[in-house]
Amino acid sequence: MFGLWPAMAVSALVASLWVPQATAQNVALVPFTVVDNAIPQPLTVTPGNATRGRVVALDRGKGNCVTCHELPLDADFQGNLGPPLTGVADRYTIDELRLRVVDGKRINPDSNMPSYYRIEGLTAVRRDWAGRPILTAQEVEDVLAYLMTLR
Ligand code: HEC
Repeated sequence: MFGLWPAMAVSALVASLWVPQATAQNVALVPFTVVDNAIPQPLTVTPGNATRGRVVALDRGKGNCVTCHELPLDADFQGNLGPPLTGVADRYTIDELRLRVVDGKRINPDSNMPSYYRIEGLTAVRRDWAGRPILTAQEVEDVLAYLMTLR
């Protein structure tokens, strides 16, 4: 019986080598409509949660907004590639901010800001990110709820 172990180990190894490479399969995005530089409908039924949005904005693996924007957050190394976001809720409606976060390149095609809820027509996408948006629809709404606290 013990004689079988090496053979099993080898076949397990071979099996693991034969696992096909993960193919980029596109995540289905929530459909949305752009009207006049804005997305007037929330992407989710569940309203955004500002506390969670603040975490997403700060998270280096998620929104990472602080890399390019100054935010009233307790974070070191805040960037200045984009404008400070303090007071952004006084400058824009939540619907205008939704388009900025979902796909700001529709407003400024040359923008350095990532399109957080877009999967098509992008360049230089990390392979493990291909086919899925940086943020989920709920995370987008959470970030928007947080932005609306920045008055
Ligand atoms: C790689 C840099 C970068 C990152 C990361 C980034 N942005 Fe931006 N953002 C910009 C730049 C640059 C602009 C200036 C306008 C443009 O380029 O279209 C901008 C503009 C904006 C604006 C409009 C501000 C104004 O006063 O006009 C908002 C709102 C905004 N970003 C929100 C966010 C949020 C929220 C995140 C994180 C989820 C984020 N950005 C992440 C670069 C970035």
